[in-house]
Amino acid sequence: MQASTAVLPCRPGVMPQRLRILCSAVVLMATCLLTGPAMAHGDVVPQSVNTSTLPQLGEKWLPANPFSEGPAHAEALRIGTSAYNQNCARCHGLEAISGGIAPNLRKIDGDCMDLADQAKKMACYKETDEYFVGTVRRGRVRDGRVYMPPFEGILNQEAIWSIKTYLETRREP
Ligand code: HEC
Repeated sequence: MQASTAVLPCRPGVMPQRLRILCSAVVLMATCLLTGPAMAHGDVVPQSVNTSTLPQLGEKWLPANPFSEGPAHAEALRIGTSAYNQNCARCHGLEAISGGIAPNLRKIDGDCMDLADQAKKMACYKETDEYFVGTVRRGRVRDGRVYMPPFEGILNQEAIWSIKTYLETRREP
């Protein structure tokens, strides 16, 4: 949305100074209402995510999702849901229901779920977590073609684990 063009009908000469401020506000609000629904589909450029309300994890990447369980889970889920919609949904589908352009992320740890042995299951989840974080940080670039953009420097560790937390609630049985 370009604010400068949006408020064009409110430029000086067209109406008196006092009305112009009100006019600009009304035009901007209308423009936002019109562009709002398009944004709800996640069709936007990569967005950084505010993770200041989560426990800060530091520079070193953890080997497994620290928000899968525990006191920070609910807040991570809230942040991860919105971060997924803003950064991943346009390719991996709304609510992680894949439309076929990109892999189905609801199945990413599907093989682990079937393991009866608890220790093997946990090891499997950890392996998937590492694979997940690695993929999101580096993206998928082959022969100069960007299949998925790298998110390193855009999403921090807290944001990427929050997205994983969201996807864990969307697992396909
Ligand atoms: C521009 C489209 C696009 C966006 C945006 C995108 N991805 Fe992807 N993603 C893909 C494609 C396409 C692949 C498969 C690439 C390939 O063929 O190697 C993929 C692969 C993956 C994989 C590996 C899946 C597997 O089964 O091996 C993960 C994990 C993943 N994406 C997570 C994410 C997350 C999380 C986000 C948001 C932060 C995201 N992606 C944003 C297109 C995208």
